[in-house]
Formats: sequence, C-alpha cells, structure tokens
Amino acid sequence: MIWFNKLIVKILPLFPKSFIWLFSRRYIAGKTMEDGLNKTRELNALGCDVTIDVLGEDIETLQEAEQARDEGLLVLEAIDREKLDANLSVKLTSLGMRIDKTKCYALVESIVKRAGELNNFVRIDMEDVTCTDDTLEIYRRLRKTYPNVGVVIQAYLKRSRGDVRRLIDEGYANLRLCKGIYDESPDVAFKDRETIRESFTDLIRMMLESSSYAGIATHDRVIAERALEMIESGKIEKDKFEFQMLLGVTERLRAEIVNRGFKMRVYVPYGEQWYGYCTRRLKENPKMAGHIIKNLFIRG
Ligand code: FDA
Repeated sequence: MIWFNKLIVKILPLFPKSFIWLFSRRYIAGKTMEDGLNKTRELNALGCDVTIDVLGEDIETLQEAEQARDEGLLVLEAIDREKLDANLSVKLTSLGMRIDKTKCYALVESIVKRAGELNNFVRIDMEDVTCTDDTLEIYRRLRKTYPNVGVVIQAYLKRSRGDVRRLIDEGYANLRLCKGIYDESPDVAFKDRETIRESFTDLIRMMLESSSYAGIATHDRVIAERALEMIESGKIEKDKFEFQMLLGVTERLRAEIVNRGFKMRVYVPYGEQWYGYCTRRLKENPKMAGHIIKNLFIRG
C-alpha cells in the first residue's frame, strides 16, 4: 500500500483545495484566530497546554511580515484576555527573515517583548537548513535581553549536538527538540530512522542532565518511552521539560502521557495559509493519505 499512499500525495495538487480541506481539518484548528482559540480551549479542558501557530511561512513582502507580527500580537492579547494555557510559535521567514534580517529582528523582538509583558513565551520554529544559522543568531540576540523565548533544534541535523552543547553552555537552552520535517541532503542530515532516534535520545539526555528546559516534540513511541525512562529513573523535576505533539496526531499516546501526569503541549496551527502546511504533513506521512481516502470513499 505504500506506493498507493505515495501516489495519492503526488497527485494531491490535482485535487481542488476544497477537497483537500476536508481531510486536512484534523491537523489545523481552522482559518481564523477564533478557530485557534476554540481549539485551545478544548485542549486546555483535556489537560493539554497549547502553542498557537499562525500559518504563513511563504511571504514575499515586508508588509506581509508586518501583518504576521500584528496577528501574533493579537494572539498574545487574546491568550491573556481569555486566560488560556497557551504560548505562541513563530517562523522567522513569516517575519521576513529571507527578505531583511534587521527588519525581521525588529518584528520578532516586538512580539517577544509584548509576550514578556504579558508573562508569556514565544517559541521560534526551525525551518530548513538554509535558515539554521540566521535563526540561531537572531535567537541568541533576543536571549541577551529576553528570557521568555526559546528555539527549536532538529535531531536529524548533524550539527545539532554541537548547537545544543553551545546553547547549554551559554545558558540559552530553552529548546524544543524534534526530528526535523524538511527533506535535507545527507551531507548535513542523518537519513536513517534509527540514527535519527539515537541523535534525538542523545539530545534529550544532554538537555535533561543540564539546567535547561526541554520541549520533547515527538509522536514516536520509542523516543517518548526512552524520554520517560530517563525522566523517571533520573527523578527529573517536572519543571524542566514538557512533551509536545502536533494537533491531530497520535492522540492515544498523547492521552497516555497526560494521564501519567506529564505536561503536554499541543501545536495548534490556524490561518488562511493552511494548504501548504497540510500538504507537507501528508507528504511526511503518506500513510495518513491512505487512511483518509479510505475513510472518505469506503466508509462513505
Ligand atoms: P515519526 O515521524 O516517526 O512519527 C511517529 C508516528 O507518529 C508515525 O508512525 C505516525 O503514526 C505518527 N505521525 C507522525 N507524524 C504524523 C503526521 N503528520 N500525521 C499523522 N501521523 C503522524 N519540525 C521542524 O523541522 N521544525 C519545527 O519547528 C517543528 N516543530 C514541531 C513542533 C511540534 C510540537 C512537533 C510535535 C513537531 C514539530 N516538527 C518540527 C516536526 C518534527 O520535526 C517531525 O517531522 C514530526 O514530529 C514527525 O516526527 P516524530 O518524532 O513524530 O516521529
């Protein structure tokens, strides 16, 4: 069936967007901020914290970057007003990093500054490898002034061990660890599933053994179990880490971790630019495409 799933993902662009919307809905809260806030309320009621992401990585003008900044600020105000257990995730390319780095810094700084005033936190997502150096540079600069910001490290990158070591030594290691979602070259990234798991486990261990904060972002039961084993055998304090998952993915494992009393944060994306986000999710896991198509056509 793998070929069938891959085929579906290949021909996705031929389907009308309204059709793709039907089976993308599980991965995104909806198109508006209100949709994002509603989903956040639902998840908070289930015992999960949230990080809200305004979809929109592919911008072309600084005006769009300013709009992304404004939307981020609105989300922070709404979280505060409605007393939700949520923070904000941002992508620096949506704030113009590829167009003007100075402007991008000013925009992200205004978001992080306001988040600090509201006693909230901003997580900078990590994008493809052409963004890694600039993202870490902007992150380090922000951290000199603002403690309420963290970044993402991708376990598939060969450089990540060194990056995490340096960030721990600098006292800047508030990190979300994940495998990494982009299709990178073998020159810079591990490609083998087991090697990526080893790298991920190694990074979690480094984080838990240091005075840093780790967001363990995975749906891979093997990695989650390894992390839980390290946490329980090392008697790691609960304020040093949290688990994180994407909306709509492995909800059973998510509930198991919550029921064991660990903090879980769900990544809740919303926005008009849902199409790119959802097709990337399906490309990453073609198995999902097969399940969804079967549900739609076979069960009616
Ligand atoms: P793996 O891919 O092995 O998945 C384990 C199992 O989970 C699969 O077998 C399947 O059952 C299920 N599953 C996983 N993904 C699924 C999906 N999309 N749909 C349905 N089922 C799925 N990446 C990045 O490069 N930069 C970033 O900033 C982030 N941010 C981020 C935040 C959070 C909260 C999470 C959880 C993930 C990210 N990622 C990310 C994505 C991450 O890098 C990675 O691509 C995915 O989490 C998939 O890797 P897993 O560790 O879940 O393992």
